[in-house]
Amino acid sequence: MLPAPYGLLAEVTHQCPLHCLYCSNPLELRAREQEIGTADWTRVIREAADLGVVQVHFSGGEPLLRGDLAELIAQARACELYTNLITSGLGLTEERAKSLVAAGLNSAQLSIQGDTAEASERVAATKRFDKKREAARTITDVGLPLSMNVVLHRLNLDRLDAIIDVCESWGAERLELANTQYYGWALRNRELLLPSREQLAAAEEVYHRRKAELAGRVELLWILPDYYERFPKPCMGGWARTALTVAPDGVAYPCPVAADIDTVDFPSVTEHPLEWIWAKSPGFEAFRGTDWMPEPCRSCSRKEIDFGGCRCQAFALTGDAARTDPVCVYSPDHHLVEEAVEGANEGADRAPEPVYRRPGAAVR
Ligand code: SF4
Ligand code: FES
Repeated sequence: MLPAPYGLLAEVTHQCPLHCLYCSNPLELRAREQEIGTADWTRVIREAADLGVVQVHFSGGEPLLRGDLAELIAQARACELYTNLITSGLGLTEERAKSLVAAGLNSAQLSIQGDTAEASERVAATKRFDKKREAARTITDVGLPLSMNVVLHRLNLDRLDAIIDVCESWGAERLELANTQYYGWALRNRELLLPSREQLAAAEEVYHRRKAELAGRVELLWILPDYYERFPKPCMGGWARTALTVAPDGVAYPCPVAADIDTVDFPSVTEHPLEWIWAKSPGFEAFRGTDWMPEPCRSCSRKEIDFGGCRCQAFALTGDAARTDPVCVYSPDHHLVEEAVEGANEGADRAPEPVYRRPGAAVR
């Protein structure tokens, strides 16, 4: 029996006030004119609840740029779903926050890019650090649990202690320390962002020390830097196993980055019910389970542990989403990762130009 998806990532818009070097949205952003409307979203939310989804994460881009966000949250709560807002915090006034809470918002996750305005601007090319501090205060003032997220890389790993201080002082109850994953836009800036082994080891020590110190007050989570692992992560808990994403234009994916895999057809919620999309659509079936696997995964004892790693990473690095994730030491493509890691450990004085995310600036 196919298990029900646990979470729906509702990417309600790709519009965003930030221009992050590691943007996790697909290379080709959906324009505002392509976005599906309120009626489609509320139907998708109802269908998700019927399918067994228990959590909806409203994300983007910046979901606050959707004027109907409160209506969508209200629909999710009416279906007894847990609702979470994933936001840059820009545009979150007290009035807006209160309206979202009144609609039934359960929690908010705020991202920051560094511990100072200068550090943030270097990553996101936007001068709005003070607005993020205000957003954190607003979130806690309206009584929402504040979760925070920081993407870690070569430019900010040395500041981890200070970053954790900022999140603690802003009232975070949970803090995701997410080492950059190098697909999508981040791959474009990999040389700039990939840290050295030494930098990572020092940061990991900080993480363990602060996790122990903050136990019971702030929950710290460390998302592994997979280029430095022997085996890949079980990305998304396995393809189409636990969650699904609906993009701003209504196309559904097993993960938010999968839109970049142009060798697979993905279905749209405007043409198919979510139940069919989840259970039967070719895009969701493509890499589900283990039957699709090539060697060395096919005969590997870890195939039910990591599911062959990340399909988006395999596609981004080899052009074939069905290959073993090159992070894996058994992958015939592992040299692609090794070479990048070698470069990061040799080139301490290199300074590649940052390529900021701008709408319309797709790169293949
Ligand atoms: Fe995982 Fe495949 Fe590597 Fe085995 S060969 S560890 S299943 S990615
Ligand atoms: Fe898409 Fe890993 S990011 S499967």
